[in-house]
Amino acid sequence: MCGIVGYVGPAEAVGVVIEGLRRLEYRGYDSAGVAVPDQDGIQLRKRAGKLANLVQALDEEPLPASSTAMGHTRWATHGAPTDPNAHPHLDCEGRIAVVHNGIIENFATLRAQLEADGHKLASETDTEVVAHLLEDATERANGDLAAAMRDVCRQLHGAFTLVAVDATQPDLIVAARRNSPLVVGRGQGQNFLASDVAAFIAHTREAIELGQDQVVSITADEIVVTDFHGELAETKDYTVDWDVSAAEKGGHDYFMLKEIAEQPQAVADTLLGRLTEAGDIVLDEVRLTDQDLRDVDKVFIVACGTSYHAGMVAKYAIEHWTRLPCEVELASEFRYRDPVLDRSTLIIAISQSGETMDTLMAIRHAKEQKARVLAICNANGSTIPRESDAVLYTHAGPEIAVASTKAFLTQLAACYLVGLHLAHVRGIKYADEVAAVVAQLQAMPGKVEQVLETMEPVRELARQIADSRSVLFIGRHVGFPVALEGALKLKELAYMHAEGFAAGELKHGPIALIDKGTPVVCVVPSPAGRGVMHDKVVSNIQEVRARGARTIVIAEEGDVAVEPYADHLIRVPRTPTVLAPLVTVVPLQVLACEIAAARGNDVDQPRNLAKSVTVE
Ligand code: F6R
Repeated sequence: MCGIVGYVGPAEAVGVVIEGLRRLEYRGYDSAGVAVPDQDGIQLRKRAGKLANLVQALDEEPLPASSTAMGHTRWATHGAPTDPNAHPHLDCEGRIAVVHNGIIENFATLRAQLEADGHKLASETDTEVVAHLLEDATERANGDLAAAMRDVCRQLHGAFTLVAVDATQPDLIVAARRNSPLVVGRGQGQNFLASDVAAFIAHTREAIELGQDQVVSITADEIVVTDFHGELAETKDYTVDWDVSAAEKGGHDYFMLKEIAEQPQAVADTLLGRLTEAGDIVLDEVRLTDQDLRDVDKVFIVACGTSYHAGMVAKYAIEHWTRLPCEVELASEFRYRDPVLDRSTLIIAISQSGETMDTLMAIRHAKEQKARVLAICNANGSTIPRESDAVLYTHAGPEIAVASTKAFLTQLAACYLVGLHLAHVRGIKYADEVAAVVAQLQAMPGKVEQVLETMEPVRELARQIADSRSVLFIGRHVGFPVALEGALKLKELAYMHAEGFAAGELKHGPIALIDKGTPVVCVVPSPAGRGVMHDKVVSNIQEVRARGARTIVIAEEGDVAVEPYADHLIRVPRTPTVLAPLVTVVPLQVLACEIAAARGNDVDQPRNLAKSVTVE
């Protein structure tokens, strides 16, 4: 949510920053801006709308050449997405420029004080107060921008990443973070600041993870990190394990299509190296001991959006395999209902970005109650894994499209591993039973690949139903979260009314929504194993069809029982019930992507959304 880039070095800084912003645009695209420190004061350009508008403004009126620049791409919180509200924001003298990600909760009080002291503010944003506070604080600190930043941070409440430049010190950028992401890229004679390593991966893979409440100053040759009181802080260096090609479209029309295509590899990578020849699951990164896991008497999964749907699937797997009670909760609701937690509770926090504020706040609440937290996360070094007791990283690689696809599949794979590991450690499953399920899991990348090879009819179907008023999705058991996920993808990408229901709930109300021709996507369980469930869903398909629905049926190869009731039949390979979401969700991702494209929508950057939601 909001992307930030800063650069100091020998290259043409504005170009480096614009290139970085292009890679961060998934974090928000309400406006964009860039600033350089110059002897005549700060020079900046900023425009409402996508980055392309800013690029056009720079073409028409270039900024002076500079070795230092910072830029911002915005997801609006305070103030409409207009030119004046776009970042960077300036102090009264036009000497200091600031960009910001997050929300400054006490900005109204600070603004009133500043105005009483004679400051004139030009925008409606919370960010602008920081530029004016820095103006006063640099004076108190005799021009020391880092000291001024520390002073200002101590006055702020809320979540923020702040980056500032001062026209009188053109070779320096100072930044700060609290509850919002910021990484440093260490180059040779050049250094970078960004919300995400994707911004500088074309220049360096050497990164520094910043901790909570830290201030960093960068020049071309030096990086200094302190806490908010000026004490030098310890930092953690790491090397990013993917390169720039992973953050490019690679011949696909959209990042989303590329990421859908990468799913078999992403699932394989997430399983890789986590199973011994003897069938034991190796989760070295999980810093919880076997005894810790044996002491668990209850599991809570907290997550948002697509990650929440992964959690819903995980609940079925974990309860089935471990016989432990497992609840799934929307992270944004979790702490408000005062859940019963103690040191025997295991919290599993699922987050692709590792920065989702709702999830972060849920785990902080859980930790206050002494619960243990295991994060399942895709972004190395992000806040949620750092604040958790243990982490299991998914290996999806960078997910750039705002709508999550490959992260979801890898979250499922990771949840299955955690469930099996828990069951083994707690003595519910023997090693050979675990190994048998893991062998089935290891076959899943091939099955996902098979589904991807048969998507042409889904594309054709998408064109046929692109003008529908509403699309419904139904499923039972693990098919229910898949139905919810299919509906979420369609809402966010196609801006259509779409709802997912537990198939059995339909007759308790939602069936009234069905009109002649309403598309209803039916996720059918395997006829093997839990045959009763299968037969019930087949009955539900008949019920909706009898009321005029156009049925789109996702069913296993060889399931002939569905054939008479399917207006469109999409086949997936035979798969054990609990693992089936790995294949059944894929056609729903493709369907949503193609409907969005047919409706002329921006597939990778749907309106009003941002990839990493760092506000509550
Ligand atoms: C939907 C989507 C969102 C995220 C949600 C949580 O396609 O991507 O619903 O799943 O915002 O994000 P993370 O997983 O980063 O915590």
